[in-house]
Amino acid sequence: MNISDLSLAEAVSLGSGVSFNGTASAGDIPSVNLTDGPNGVRKQSGDSDAIGLAPSLPATCFPPLTAMAQTWDVELVHRVGAALGDESQAADVQVLLGPGINIKRSPLGGRNFEYLSEDPHVSGVLGAAYVRGLQSRGVGASVKHYALNNQERDRMRVSADVDPRPMREVYLRGFQRVVQDAHPWTVMASYNRVNGVSVSEDPFLLTQVLRDEWGFDGVVVSDWGAVRDRVAAVIAGLDLQMPYDGGSGNAAAVAAVEAGELDRGIVDRAAERVARLAEVATKARRVDDTVDFDAHHALAQEAASRAIVLLQNENDTLPLAPRGSIAVIGPFAEAPRIQGGGSAHVNPTRVDVPLAAIRSAAPEAEITYAPGFTVDGNGAHPSLVADAVAHAKSADVAVVFLGLADGQESEGFDRDDIELPAEQVSLLEAVATAQPRTVVVLFHGGVLRLASIASLVPAILDGNLLGQAAAGAIADVLFGVITPSGKLTETVPVRFEDTPAFLDFPGEYQHVRYSEGLFVGYRWYDARDLPVTYPFGHGLSYTSFAYTDAAARQAGDTAVISVRVTNTGSRPGREVVQAYVSVPESAQVRVPRALAGFASVELAPGESREVEITLDRRDLEYWDVRIDRFVLEPGTYEIALGSSSRDLRAFVDVALTGDAVRIPLTLDSTIGELMADPVASALVAKTMPSRSMEQTDNALGVDLQRMMESVPLGHSIAMAGGAVTAEQLQQLLDAANSTS
Ligand code: BGC
Repeated sequence: MNISDLSLAEAVSLGSGVSFNGTASAGDIPSVNLTDGPNGVRKQSGDSDAIGLAPSLPATCFPPLTAMAQTWDVELVHRVGAALGDESQAADVQVLLGPGINIKRSPLGGRNFEYLSEDPHVSGVLGAAYVRGLQSRGVGASVKHYALNNQERDRMRVSADVDPRPMREVYLRGFQRVVQDAHPWTVMASYNRVNGVSVSEDPFLLTQVLRDEWGFDGVVVSDWGAVRDRVAAVIAGLDLQMPYDGGSGNAAAVAAVEAGELDRGIVDRAAERVARLAEVATKARRVDDTVDFDAHHALAQEAASRAIVLLQNENDTLPLAPRGSIAVIGPFAEAPRIQGGGSAHVNPTRVDVPLAAIRSAAPEAEITYAPGFTVDGNGAHPSLVADAVAHAKSADVAVVFLGLADGQESEGFDRDDIELPAEQVSLLEAVATAQPRTVVVLFHGGVLRLASIASLVPAILDGNLLGQAAAGAIADVLFGVITPSGKLTETVPVRFEDTPAFLDFPGEYQHVRYSEGLFVGYRWYDARDLPVTYPFGHGLSYTSFAYTDAAARQAGDTAVISVRVTNTGSRPGREVVQAYVSVPESAQVRVPRALAGFASVELAPGESREVEITLDRRDLEYWDVRIDRFVLEPGTYEIALGSSSRDLRAFVDVALTGDAVRIPLTLDSTIGELMADPVASALVAKTMPSRSMEQTDNALGVDLQRMMESVPLGHSIAMAGGAVTAEQLQQLLDAANSTS
């Protein structure tokens, strides 16, 4: 279909939904269906309503992305993406609305459970794996929420006021990687504003960065209801306004073209992109496919078991022997919390029950159950506590399920705090006093403050939000059928007050200032040398690993790192090897350590293997605000290889040639900058009168040379008392700038 054959009204209509999920058809261009996402297909049953609240058809509820990230498993995330693609095909869905790539800036972020990490490398690499997996089944992804939509409070108006370096290096990085490495069919423009401009009307984000710099060639779709000014949006580079707005956006666009305020070519360009999406998606349609929901349930369990993080395990409390007596406590053991609320909420095909899974994993054990507390928010119930304590006391071990209830974490609002409900903490205190061998299993989407419970019990499993097959995964890890290998992708702070955005979240009067700059997540705790309860990248195993023989070499713009990892314990296990980079001699502001790569290795007891990690240029460079581009700084890069960001076990340096960047010198450049430029300083030595500063040192009581370093050249003319003229200086600068 040639778009120019369409009438103006038809071309415009392609740029808007016709329902909550469907796009328009025009000529022979078919309609497509875009449906949530991300960790299950949320296809509304019957006729969809206008705001997407209708019940949805049963679908596999895979672990939400917060848990998928804890697997650090690219291949597994790809497989889950492919399974989501198959379920989308069977439901006649052409675009699944995910994954969420936003950075977890504050632990209060209401949708943190939908996002992957506080780190852009993890978000980008795993986000790309998800997109590749999904799209391998002929279903498009919608990478969201582009960009800087890192809070729910005031999400439709708030302006994320952010400096260029954190924007480029932290908040856009994950999106860039997914776009460049996985070529998503669509990107979703978020509700919020960035530096004062509505994202859906922002040519900088939607065209300059996304298309011109990153080469995105798909459809930019608005978040649902994000567009207020359709004409401005289309001009900025937005192709598809969702959902159907009653036709007012189309009418405004038609009127603007007729009034000569909107170029028909711009309308056609957007229509062309939507038409291409429809064509590709329609060719790939396989509506007759059926889904093997049992196989997907098994995959959801595999993913869940990889996502569980063993936070602590004193005295080898875990794994449990499947014998003796076990007191299982907490209502989540009967009704696990498996997902968050909002548009990501899936109607699961089934939900396994932890208590039942524990019983079937340990048929010979005597398993008792006591609720201990309720999740209705009505505080402690002394009789429930007393009963749970009695169970715990008479058992060999207690397993206590704690967490946040459904409805406490959702799209649309942020959390008020990072605390476990007080009645759960007091129940645990009572149980742990009665039974020193107490294991805690946690269900939650956003990070919890765990310092108070970490000192009460020997063992804690982070069950996060594990999807519909959580139960079997937890039982397998509790009894050692599976050795845990998940690692945190978000730091667990000691105190909420320690968190990076504490003083600037969620902002006020429609602005939130990203005052922590580059120091997001572990970068912040490391820079301030703050203690944390569990660091980024942390996760224990039932076996142990040694790191030796680290080596590094430059290969073009990348650094290739290798390290030998040996399983020094007595069980088979999987280790996620993390590579952190520091540039101690950098001339720029740098974070102490940034994750630049990771790889996992499965090892039998005693087995040893060399693990190789290639560090991409994108994980080594910094954004230079003087020249508006990324620069790979020449120099020595220190690589620390570790089992977490604070358990660094092998170190190696690599020298990188990097980019030669010379910033043109002007009269606003300082004397220090002039002298740091090799060409200019040589010219100065040759041509400028030299006056010793030493004689005057003592009179002023200062190190005059150091003081002068920050004086701009233009200002130095007067201070030189006529020894140098502006013309002479300008000639010198011109000569320096024109010499390479
Ligand atoms: C959410 C998106 C979602 C869309 C469609 C919006 O409210 O922010 O993540 O994909 O609704 O349901």
